[in-house]
Amino acid sequence: MHRQTFYATTPIYYVNDVPHIGHAYTTVAADVLARAHRMMGRDVFFLTGTDEHGQKVQEAAGRRGVAPQAHCDDLVVRFQKLWKRLDISNDDFIRTTEDRHKAVVRNVLQVLHDKGEIYRDTYEGWYCVPCERFWTEKEIAQGNCPDCGRPVERVTESNYFFKMGKYRDRLVAHIRANPGFIRPEPRRNEVLGFLTRELGDLCISRPKSRLAWGIELPFDPSFVTYVWFDALVNYISAPGYGAPGSLFERFWPADVHLIGKDILTTHAVYWSTMLMALGLQLPRTIFAHGWWTVEGEKMSKSRGNVVDPNGVVEAYGADPFRYYLLSQMTFGADGDFSFERFVARYNGDLANALGNLLSRLVSMIEKYFGGTIPAPSPDSFGDWARVESACPAGAGGLRTVREAFPDEIPARYADLDFKELLERIWTAVYGINEFIDKSAPWNLAKDEGKRPLLSTVMFVAADQLRRVAVFLTPVMPAACGEILARLGASPASRFEEAGGAWDAALAGKRVVKGISLFPRIEVAKAGAA
Ligand code: MSP
Repeated sequence: MHRQTFYATTPIYYVNDVPHIGHAYTTVAADVLARAHRMMGRDVFFLTGTDEHGQKVQEAAGRRGVAPQAHCDDLVVRFQKLWKRLDISNDDFIRTTEDRHKAVVRNVLQVLHDKGEIYRDTYEGWYCVPCERFWTEKEIAQGNCPDCGRPVERVTESNYFFKMGKYRDRLVAHIRANPGFIRPEPRRNEVLGFLTRELGDLCISRPKSRLAWGIELPFDPSFVTYVWFDALVNYISAPGYGAPGSLFERFWPADVHLIGKDILTTHAVYWSTMLMALGLQLPRTIFAHGWWTVEGEKMSKSRGNVVDPNGVVEAYGADPFRYYLLSQMTFGADGDFSFERFVARYNGDLANALGNLLSRLVSMIEKYFGGTIPAPSPDSFGDWARVESACPAGAGGLRTVREAFPDEIPARYADLDFKELLERIWTAVYGINEFIDKSAPWNLAKDEGKRPLLSTVMFVAADQLRRVAVFLTPVMPAACGEILARLGASPASRFEEAGGAWDAALAGKRVVKGISLFPRIEVAKAGAA
């Protein structure tokens, strides 16, 4: 039997941009989603990549005096390296200048042209060069682009158009019938609002005389393809649309296109109607997340406040950065990156709560049991009720992890409810710390008659921490691998490993002492970082 599939994508990033926290956020969120689905046992395809055609790339290459392709080859590395550093587990990386992509774009254009979905017309409109798009008279405010605020130019051009407008009613019906199609809810309403107006056709070409850096139209070599039309096709070109037996056949329709809210229209409207015209299924979900500000301000090059993820990762590691991004912001809402809050969360949640739990537990097992995780006392093993009465601390929190989390945590991952799920996991981390405090192993150790109870307490704490590390693996893969290794366990590959009865195999394993997992950030030093 085929395993259930899961296909997740990020936007493909403009290769010209310097990767920043906004790009990192989408990619980390998609990675967590992909990892979580792998841990649910699904067959996953996780795609990211770069958007490499268009005027801005052509101009930037020109300024550097290099060919556009060489320019892209130089720049793409910044993204690829950052994703490695951030432990991104993408299955493929698509570049729009690759032949495999260009071939599919040409194929799509030809198919739509043959079907009569593309026609030629003369167009006059206001064009914004930096945004590479036309605006209508009504849309331009005082002669400026409504998106970037820069001046627009009057341009008359003969171009090719995709008959997007005729799909409006079908698209509205689809959005209405599928509440999970555009998420979260306010974004869905935004698109429905947009679609109450008449939907025009989409200009999908640029004359080569103005822009050479693009994919030539297969039916008219004097034009190249509009970058957005080109870019959106990546979601089907990468898995091999059109090739028999391809990943496309296995994985389409995509389960989630993760995007930022600024590119909602291109995805919800352009892409959906393109797919309708091709006779393909629409993605199951388009999820538009919010935007990051930095220290309360919009991030911009001119303000000089662009957060470079490389710096944060270099100083504090990939996992704390991943944790911060997902715990700080409700997925879908806007959020603010503040260095002070990063340090506070790191020191509080990671150094004091999780890191300290691991190190004190390992030290106690060293001290009281010579470094071998003890078996719980025989009369309590496997019988939670008896352990509960044998352990002096209330074990409710522990029980939740064992009984409720195996359903709840994977469901929250699948629902992109990252902030909440991390809060839930942290209640468990605090719960284990409290369990140890209330059990007071240091007192039990003084009394030989309490030895069985001491064994049970140590075993239960280790087993609970093991479970927490399994549930947390998609967010902090390296740190959780390390926690598990120090408890003598292997890295987690399935959520199932964290459910069910006690892991008797844990008893007898040797714990490993090591350097602090999350050394505290001293604020005086941090300021200088
Ligand atoms: N190339 C297009 C996407 C084509 S997809 C077929 C593009 N690229 S981008 O590099 O400009 O942006 C990629 C993503 O980064 C978008 O989802 C955008 O929302 C996100 N972000 C850019 N700045 C951001 C923040 N300040 N905060 C959060 N996300 C932000 O658009």
